[in-house]
Amino acid sequence: MSHHDERTFVMAKPDAVQRGLVGEIISRLEQRGLKLVGAKCIQIDEDLAHEHYAEHEGKPFFEDLVEFITSAPVVAMVWEGADATRQVRGMMGATDPAEAQPGTIRGDYGLDLGQNIIHGSDHEDPGANEREIDLFFDEDELLDYDRTDEPWVYEDETH
Ligand code: RTP
Ligand code: MG
Repeated sequence: MSHHDERTFVMAKPDAVQRGLVGEIISRLEQRGLKLVGAKCIQIDEDLAHEHYAEHEGKPFFEDLVEFITSAPVVAMVWEGADATRQVRGMMGATDPAEAQPGTIRGDYGLDLGQNIIHGSDHEDPGANEREIDLFFDEDELLDYDRTDEPWVYEDETH
């Protein structure tokens, strides 16, 4: 099962919660075959926002980004599956929803770079997924279980 257990951090951003898109996001990821192993509603404070987006500190859009991400509740999640980090990024689409392909989450639900619905760990930044999971979740908040459909998602699992 080891190659199916990559974990990645995903967040339904404040605009997704306000616009009733949380279910849609969860649906898409779970229908893909990814497994939800942790989730919680939280309101991000300044400190957590700065830590989460530390790579962007000093950039011109940083203050707006912190203001947006702290402006209303978010849903923080951990999803598990084969190549999960890269697969989620693909499903999210380009950072700017105006450039994102139809069929992607941002391409189907967004129009504005600053309000782009979903966050997922950067698959090009090794360790970003584990770092973000650790920032938002304690180990005992993450569950280890099988989905009954896993043998129908992964060919090498026994039916
Ligand atoms: P995220 O971290 O939120 O999942 O988004 P991302 O990886 O696709 O994009 P990233 O480069 O990490 O940027 C973080 C967020 O900052 C806003 N942004 N604004 N005005 C700008 O040039 C600009 N660039 C990025 C976006 O809202 C982006 O999601
Ligand atoms: Mg990013």
